[in-house]
Amino acid sequence: MKTIEVCLTPDLIHQHALKGKLVVVVDIFRATSCIVTGLANGVEAIKPVAEIDECKALGTEGYVMAGERGGVKVEGFDMGNSPFEYQSEELKGKKVAISTTNGSQAIIKSKEADEIIVGAFLNLDAVTQHILQAKKDVVIHCAGWKGTPNLEDTLFAGALIDECAEEMKPVGDSALVAHHLYIANHENVLGLALQSSHAERLKGFGIEEDLEFCMEDSTYQVVPKLVDGELIA
Ligand code: MLT
Repeated sequence: MKTIEVCLTPDLIHQHALKGKLVVVVDIFRATSCIVTGLANGVEAIKPVAEIDECKALGTEGYVMAGERGGVKVEGFDMGNSPFEYQSEELKGKKVAISTTNGSQAIIKSKEADEIIVGAFLNLDAVTQHILQAKKDVVIHCAGWKGTPNLEDTLFAGALIDECAEEMKPVGDSALVAHHLYIANHENVLGLALQSSHAERLKGFGIEEDLEFCMEDSTYQVVPKLVDGELIA
C-alpha cells in the first residue's frame, strides 16, 4: 500500500524524504486556490517565484506579475492574490509569474520531489483521482503561515487523506492530526476554516467572498503540475 504523509509547514519539509515521491502543495487561503482557478479558466502557465524582484524581471519578459505580501497586493504588480482576479478573460492564454508569502515558497521548496502538483478544495476530486492513479508515495506539503502550521491547509490535508483512506496508508502523527481534524469537522469545514488566523486577517481586508470561494468543493477538474518550473494544467 502506498503511503501519504503530511508536512504541516515548509519549515519542516527537511524532515520528509521527497525523492521519488509525489508532493501535493496546498495553500488554501489563497495561493493554490488561485493557481487552480487560473489554470481552470484558461491561463496558459503560472510560474512560482520566491522573490518580488524575480517576478518583476519576468514582467519585462511578458509575464503578468501577480502576488502579495501579508495578504496585500504588491505595489506595481498587475494582480494581487484573489481567485476572482484569476477568472478574468484577459488572462486567457497568458503566462503569470506569482510570488506569495507562503504558497509559492512551498512549491519552490518541494523541488526534490519526483512530481509536484497543486491542491485546493476547489480541485479535491481531481487531485484524489490523480494521486490514486499515480501509485506513488505522497507528501502533502502545507504552506502554513510564515513557518507555522495553519488550520485551513491542515484541514485540506485531512480531507485528502480521507478521500484516499481505502487505498493509501497515512504515515506519521501529522497525517493523523490532519485526518482526525477533518473527521471531527467534516460537516462544517467552512465554519472551521473561517476561524483560522489567516481568515481573520483577510476579513480585515474586507474580502470574505475569497474565503468562501476557496472552500468550495471540487468546482474544477484541473490538476496543476510543475513542468520545467511552470505550473500547467
Ligand atoms: C500565501 O501564499 O501566503 C497566501 O496565498 C497569502 C494570501 O492570502 O494572499
